[in-house]
Amino acid sequence: MTATRDLGPLIPRNRDAHPPAYDPDYKTSVFRSPHLPLISMESTPSEETGPRFGHARLGPLDNNLILNWTKGAAPAVGERILMHGRVLDENARPVPDTLIEIWQANAGGRYRHIKDTYFAPLDPNFGGCGRTITDENGCYEFLTIRPGAYPWPNRGNEWRPMHVHVSVFGHSFGQRLITQMYFEGDPLIARCPIANTVKDRGQLDRLVAPLDLGRARPMDFLAYKFDIVLRGRRQTMFENKLEGM
Ligand SMILES: [Fe+2]
Repeated sequence: MTATRDLGPLIPRNRDAHPPAYDPDYKTSVFRSPHLPLISMESTPSEETGPRFGHARLGPLDNNLILNWTKGAAPAVGERILMHGRVLDENARPVPDTLIEIWQANAGGRYRHIKDTYFAPLDPNFGGCGRTITDENGCYEFLTIRPGAYPWPNRGNEWRPMHVHVSVFGHSFGQRLITQMYFEGDPLIARCPIANTVKDRGQLDRLVAPLDLGRARPMDFLAYKFDIVLRGRRQTMFENKLEGM
């Protein structure tokens, strides 16, 4: 007989905390937001039980964006940082074996993407993508460079704050959560229409990683701490799920 796992106290979801899909200040949301009532669709077994990504598929430089594009031959240009944290559930228990993927602009604010035509040059030594899997304590880390702010077409002179895109996979492809990490002290956060679709200041603050000098390495890199909480009162805001998983 299997022992029942103690799931801890039930923490009700705050269904009002997530930003609305339609926000006129974020121009793209006007066209992307649904115009018809939402319908609920049952997930299929393949979505809930799909193949898992395992440790065996990770390369040694997969979580080192400073070196992974050149396979260690030459480092990327920019402010060297360690991005680290834990994946936690609603009762602050660590979530191990979780695939985390990140993508970001380079130090000048340019993505390595065919549709990014910003003036800032590409860094030949920086690809902008990385991945890792949380350990038994739910911990993860990436060595990377701090991405630059970049302009985007919205209402005129609009700039995205420095940010890293983050994807978290559960046990299948049907369990994917996506969010963005911002950096403590960036004055562009308060001016960004995308960041400010999150109307609750406390929720937005949870997307801002504080400087963590305790994990910085002298004469090498600064560190920023970003914990990802899957649900509950301290849940991280996710772009693709209204309430998390
Ligand atoms: Fe971005």
